[in-house]
Amino acid sequence: MKEWTREEKYRYLKDPQELKGLYDQISKSAYRQTFHNQAVTGLMNDPNGFVWHDNKWHLFYQWCPWGAVHGLKHWYHIISKDLVTWRNLGVCLLPDQEDGYDNRGVYSGSAMPIGDKIYLYYTGNHRNENWVRHAYTCLARLGNDGWPEKYPLPLFGANPDYTEHQRDPKIICMPGMDIYYMLIGAQTKDHHGCCLVYSSHDLQHGWQFAGELKVPGYENFGDMWECPSIEYIGGKDVLLFCPQHMTLPGRGQSQNHNGYFIGHMDWYSLTFTPEGQFHVLDFGFDSYAAACANNLQEADKAVLIAWMGVPDVSYPTDEENWAGCLTLPRELTVRNRRLVQQPLPELKKLRDERISLTWNEFGCYELPRAAEVEIDCRKGDVNLKFFTNEKGEGGLSIVYDDATGYITVDRSGMTITFNEQEGSSRQRHLDQYLNHLRIFIDSSSIEIFVNDGAAVFTSRVFPTPEEHYMVIEGDVFERLWTLKPAVKDEFLI
Ligand code: FRU
Repeated sequence: MKEWTREEKYRYLKDPQELKGLYDQISKSAYRQTFHNQAVTGLMNDPNGFVWHDNKWHLFYQWCPWGAVHGLKHWYHIISKDLVTWRNLGVCLLPDQEDGYDNRGVYSGSAMPIGDKIYLYYTGNHRNENWVRHAYTCLARLGNDGWPEKYPLPLFGANPDYTEHQRDPKIICMPGMDIYYMLIGAQTKDHHGCCLVYSSHDLQHGWQFAGELKVPGYENFGDMWECPSIEYIGGKDVLLFCPQHMTLPGRGQSQNHNGYFIGHMDWYSLTFTPEGQFHVLDFGFDSYAAACANNLQEADKAVLIAWMGVPDVSYPTDEENWAGCLTLPRELTVRNRRLVQQPLPELKKLRDERISLTWNEFGCYELPRAAEVEIDCRKGDVNLKFFTNEKGEGGLSIVYDDATGYITVDRSGMTITFNEQEGSSRQRHLDQYLNHLRIFIDSSSIEIFVNDGAAVFTSRVFPTPEEHYMVIEGDVFERLWTLKPAVKDEFLI
């Protein structure tokens, strides 16, 4: 595995053509996705600035051009009219060189439109000559011509009462409130994760520190909270964030989590009162830094998209100099004090051809490179395997045990394994017996929506050419569609 020097990781992008050779190699990879957004070159991580504006969805992603390494981060811009098919627009926010406020990375953030402009709030990751970090909250304005204009001065610097881990501004604009809030993920000086709140009457100026968000009972929950957000869904407030450096039951040795509380937010006392425990957002292996879109036209609705990856993990495509993709967008609702994530209804447009399944001599079905499988199940045990060989061996298994009510996803049977130190199976107890599955397969991922979104398992998988079969056992009725491509793999910087 390549060892990156600091100079290599933080090299400034001067001429896009420098990346052409890299892209030409990467584009040949068998693991390039067909309907999920992915890094044009190098590494993609968090979705940023997800917003509805001018009849389009705008989305950006954290992008390090040079390879599968968390080096110099940029915002790469993509758009969609329907959240199904996407168009690349190229890099949008680049770090300012040498002594700019974001000289070592344009880190994550959010967006809000005003008039015909989109305002982009992000963390300027600044490092001085001794490599000491300072985080600034910065603003840029994006016109309809797609050209970003950075404000020359940051909105504010890091709060001195916390460590330098302060990042990921999320703009909150509640209907009926004449004040805007901004949430920032942070770390206290005694190393507890927390969320800072800033407020202003004007989106462009006058941001003041309002206080630390109080979350009674969770003062000691991980050592850093990344990507916080508060959404209003189904009459409830939902606090979403990524607590780090702690383990959670059922999540192996994983140190980084993305989850939420359902509860009530009192903006006057800056207190979020959870009405239950912390829930994991996605039970799969690879999901983090989820972002909900701003400026939705329907109140009470939320659309979420996440990075299909996790921090501090090497992926098999690292050797091909790229890593990372985004999940499908999901619609959020609240049911039985839990968040329910459903694939957006528009995603049915991806369905191309319904395939009538015929099994081979070993009882296996052939799996297309991009497919959706919908399965209705009668009460009882269910055993499914995806990405097996033609004899039904190996692969990723989905097992539902009706006696215990547990559904388990296990990817240890894949030939190419990775991140096994964080465990290779994930489990979730279902409140109701397994009755329905919708499964989206792309070249190197699987998203499993269980019982109409009551649980979701999102995972990267890297099947070998032989691993393209599936096995279905149980009292079930399955349908399979091939899916149309929805992203264009092209060299556009
Ligand atoms: C989450 C995160 C953010 C940060 C960004 C940097 O994955 O660490 O907190 O802004 O990634 O790429």
